Amino acid sequence: MPPRLRASLPCLTAVALFALSLAPAPAAAEPTASSDTPLALTPPMGWNNWAHYMCDIDEAKVVANADALVRTGLAAKGYDTVTVDDCWMLKSRDAGGGLVTDTARFPHGMAWLGRYLHAKGLKFGIYEDAGSLTCEKYPGSGSPAGGGADHYDQDARLFASWKVDYVKMDGCNLWVPPGKTKEQAYRDAYGSVARALRASGRDMVLSASAPAYFQQGEWGGSDWHKVLGWVGETGQLWREGKDIKVYQPAAPGASRWSSVMGNYGYNRWLGRYAGPGNWNDPDFLIAGAPGLTAAESRSQVGLWAMMAAPFILSSDVSRLTPAGVAALGNADLIALDQDPMGRQGAVVSSNATFEVLVRPLANGDRAVAVLNRSGNARDISVPLADIGLDSCTVNAKDLWSGARTDVSASLTGKLAAHDTAVWRLTPRGCAEAVPTGQINGAGARCADGANTTGVGAVVMAACTAGADQRWTVGRGDASLRLAGECLSAGEDGAVELADCAPGEPGQSWTHRRDGALVEAVSGLCLTAPAAAATPDAPAKRLRLTACGDHRVDQAWSLPV
Ligand code: GAL
Repeated sequence: MPPRLRASLPCLTAVALFALSLAPAPAAAEPTASSDTPLALTPPMGWNNWAHYMCDIDEAKVVANADALVRTGLAAKGYDTVTVDDCWMLKSRDAGGGLVTDTARFPHGMAWLGRYLHAKGLKFGIYEDAGSLTCEKYPGSGSPAGGGADHYDQDARLFASWKVDYVKMDGCNLWVPPGKTKEQAYRDAYGSVARALRASGRDMVLSASAPAYFQQGEWGGSDWHKVLGWVGETGQLWREGKDIKVYQPAAPGASRWSSVMGNYGYNRWLGRYAGPGNWNDPDFLIAGAPGLTAAESRSQVGLWAMMAAPFILSSDVSRLTPAGVAALGNADLIALDQDPMGRQGAVVSSNATFEVLVRPLANGDRAVAVLNRSGNARDISVPLADIGLDSCTVNAKDLWSGARTDVSASLTGKLAAHDTAVWRLTPRGCAEAVPTGQINGAGARCADGANTTGVGAVVMAACTAGADQRWTVGRGDASLRLAGECLSAGEDGAVELADCAPGEPGQSWTHRRDGALVEAVSGLCLTAPAAAATPDAPAKRLRLTACGDHRVDQAWSLPV
């Protein structure tokens, strides 16, 4: 691209320059566990009954699945937390305000179940709700509608007395007091839950469902992003969206693939919130269960591992398919999911057919996955240069086959319909990898430098996996580059691609944890245009505007 002139900008101070970097914000990777003991430094693993049994749950079924985890070897591989979901209690509290276990379902009671699980080397998880009623209308821990005392402390003490290790706190039926927003009410409620668990004296991992009650579509709304911003101060993992489709005994063969793709869809942009002690939870693994093919099961395990997602099975463990058990038990995939650095992978290129994800790992390796969304087998080829590894050789381990090859040009292979390839790359003689790939913004669209509306214009477009959406994130110099040019503050608030010049004002960007990309000189935020391009209306350009409060058109997901 020819050099272009930029509007002149006020002088940038040296201080401002030094303060900026697009390196991952350390805050996102630091433990923010609610207990003094850091909890869940890697994503929790285990089993929960909901997506297979829903309310048809009892002690025998929980015990049978716990036994099956041990027998299949999955427990020894890390799937160790057995969680009883909704419907375990009676519909009323006792005279002392305590929750009452339904002994028709759990004849030995919950303390016994905890002892049984612990004796097997497993951990004990239980479900409650931060509102007044659970989603199935059993007593919740929260204040009744209209106000009144909550039971957060009392219930936390009860769970501690049962030696519970993990609490899934749902967010149904949460009362919003007058004068508070729904978002404030959830923040207060989950803050109280976290304090009550801490005060109980027992370390219990908290799965906080708050964000799921604010989800609006794949890119989410402002409140969803606000909740994602604070939920990690309360819990170690959080559901952010829709449930994975549950097993239907009346239609056991019904496909659940679109549900897996849907949950993957909303989770894939949220890597900036994840780190040791804080995990995005796109819901249960149903790999190997009815409704997914062997390839689709591999895909769920592979994509969840790339996203550092909790590995919580929700199936009849004794009836998992052999291919499902193989995928779930694959030690390399588990190690990928549980990588101690805890950085969630990002989508670096996507179109209607393929999606490529990259995840940096603690030992300097990089994991790469390619999803084939299409219903046909496809040849795949991913040039190393496109994923930030230029002019060098990597040793690539195919994590499904275990085969190793040295690769200097492109990762290649053939993928079955709906399958996902996953490689672990060990760089040999490579310079430090440069985060390279698409930048996603509002509507999950891609920032595109195509020359559609004027020289150097940057617009939003459907993601194409093309070169005009392949950005590189500067290491140290806080630049965002496309085809060798730098994203720059331009005339009249528009941004543009222009020649990169060290220290040049208007080319330094900070990626905040809330997703905002802030330009250093102006302090303004990169903002996506409201409307997508149509055949009649050309695409509008990205602009710099005043930074708002968790505006969805100012949230961005960057390659890693
Ligand atoms: C939903 C939750 C499910 C399950 C169910 C129980 O809100 O997402 O995973 O816990 O409630 O009623």
